[in-house]
Amino acid sequence: MSSSWSSAVMTTLMEVATGEAHTVPSIHIAGAERAAQSGETFATIDPSSEKILAHVARGGAADVDAAATAAREALHGPWGRMSPQDRHAALMTLAAAIEGHAELLARLETLDCGKPLSASAGDVRGAVATLRYNAGAADKMHGISVPLGPDFVDFTELVPLGVTGHITPWNFPLGMAMRSLAPALAAGCTAVLKPAEQTPLTTLALADIARTAGIPPGVINVVTGLGEEAGAALTAHPLVSGITFTGSVETGRIVGAEAGRTLKSVVLELGGKNPMIVFADADLDRAVAAAIEGGFDNTGQVCSSSSRLIVERSIKDAFLERLVARAETLVTAPGVDDRDLGPLVSAEQHGKVMDHIAAARADGARTLTGGIRPPGLDKGYFVAPTVFDAVDPQSRIAREETFGPVVSAFAFDTEEEAIALANALPFGLNAGVMTRDIDRALACARDLEAGSVWINGWFIGGVQAPTGGIKDSGTGRERGLAGIMNYLTIKNIGIALQKRDTG
Ligand code: NAI
Ligand code: MG
Repeated sequence: MSSSWSSAVMTTLMEVATGEAHTVPSIHIAGAERAAQSGETFATIDPSSEKILAHVARGGAADVDAAATAAREALHGPWGRMSPQDRHAALMTLAAAIEGHAELLARLETLDCGKPLSASAGDVRGAVATLRYNAGAADKMHGISVPLGPDFVDFTELVPLGVTGHITPWNFPLGMAMRSLAPALAAGCTAVLKPAEQTPLTTLALADIARTAGIPPGVINVVTGLGEEAGAALTAHPLVSGITFTGSVETGRIVGAEAGRTLKSVVLELGGKNPMIVFADADLDRAVAAAIEGGFDNTGQVCSSSSRLIVERSIKDAFLERLVARAETLVTAPGVDDRDLGPLVSAEQHGKVMDHIAAARADGARTLTGGIRPPGLDKGYFVAPTVFDAVDPQSRIAREETFGPVVSAFAFDTEEEAIALANALPFGLNAGVMTRDIDRALACARDLEAGSVWINGWFIGGVQAPTGGIKDSGTGRERGLAGIMNYLTIKNIGIALQKRDTG
C-alpha cells in the first residue's frame, strides 16, 4: 500500500489497515491531529471479526468548540479570501489526492464498516466524483439583478452560509461525509465533521489527505466521538450556521429541534421503508434484479433500500420464486473476501435486525429464505439475505425501518390498493414502480409520496440528481445544484440612485 503523501496519521492508518490495533489521535483541528481534551478514547470494531480495529478520541464539547473556532478562523482567513476559481482548483487537487489514496481508503472502509472491498472502492470513486461535480460549480453559482424601477439598483449575491456541521452515519462513511462536505466547500464554507462512532477512520483519513493536498488548516475539521456528546455539542454550537445530518428519524428529530433552538439551517436525511410496486406487466427479470440490488446492497443498510415489495397478486408467487432463487446465490462473507454481502456494522445493528426478524415471525410472516446467521460464519455480525411473504401490513416488519438484508412482500389487486399500501407509512424517501405501461408508471410517480420515484430500476441517480425525503424521511435536498444551495445564503444589496431630472 504505497502512497506519495505521508503523515504520522496516515502511517498509523496504514498500520490499522494491515491489522495492528492502535490508538489514533483522531481529532483533526486546524490541520493537526490530537487526542480528546478529556484524554478519553473509544474502540472502533471490525464487524467481520468483532475485533478492535483502533482506539479513537472520544471528543466532547471542548473539542467541538476548538474545531468550530478553527473553522470560523479559516472562514475569515485564506479560504474566505480565495477566488471561486482558486477554490475550484483546490478541490480538484483534493480529488486527485483522494484518488491517490483510493486503495487505503477502501481497505479502511471495509475493515471499519464491513462492506466488500469492491463496494468500498466504488464508494471512494463516488466520493471523488461528488467532489469534482461540486468543485465544478464553485465558480458558477451567481445571484440575480432585481428590477426595483428607475431609482434603484438591486442585486443578490450568493454568499457562504458560514461554518457548517456535518453529522454522518456509518453505512457510507466516506460517501456521506463527502455528500455534504463537497458542496459546503464549493460554496466557500468551512466544516466540522462528526463521523459515526462505528466508522470514524475514513473521515479522519480524508481530513489528513486534505491537509497534505494543500487545503488550508481549519477548512475541514473532524471531531470523533459519540452522538450524544460530540454530535450534540456540534448541533448546539453558536458558531455553526448550518447542520447536515443523516441518520435515524429519532435522532433527526433531536438534531432538528436543537437546530431550531439555536437558529441554524438544517438538512435532515432520515430513514425510509421504501415501497417497490411490481405490476403484472413488468419485465420480471429486471424487477427481480432491481429488488435484489435495492434490498440487499450494503447488506440492506441503505436509507433508500427497497424493503417493501408490493407485488400484483397474479405474479407474486412467480416473482418471489425468482427473487428467492437469486437471493440464495448471494454469498455473505467478511468484507476483505469481497463477496456479495458483508456483515452488519455492529452488534447493536445485528441485534436490531434479528429482533425485527423474530417479530416478523411472531406476527405471522412466512420466511421464504434467510432469517438466520449464514452457516459457517460464527464470528461477525452476519445475517443471511431474508425474504418474508404473507406480511401483515400493520406488523412491525411492515412499518419500521430494519436496516438489514430483509425484504417483505405484500400482494395487491388494484393500482389504487398498491398506492395506498405504498403511502401508508409516515416515511417518504423513495418509491419505485415496475411496469411496461408508461402512463401507469407516471401516474404512480405522481401519486407516490416520496422525494424520489424510480421507474423500472432502483438506485437511479448520482451526484447530479437531488435526493431527500418528505414526511418523516427528512427535510432538504442533497446532491445536484440544490445540494450546493444548502451552503449558500442570499445577500441582497440595494442602491438608491440619485434622482435625475427627466424634464
Ligand atoms: P443515529 O441517527 O443515532 O446516528 C447517526 C449519527 O448521528 C451518528 O454520527 C451519531 O453519532 C449521531 N448522533 C446520535 N445521537 C446524536 C445526538 N443526540 N445529537 C447529534 N448527533 C447524534 O443512528 P444509529 O443509532 O447509528 O442507527 C439507528 C438506526 O438509524 C439504524 O438502525 C437505521 O434504521 C437508522 N439509520 C439510518 C441512516 C440513513 O442513512 N438514513 C444511517 C444510519 C442509521
Ligand atoms: Mg467500525
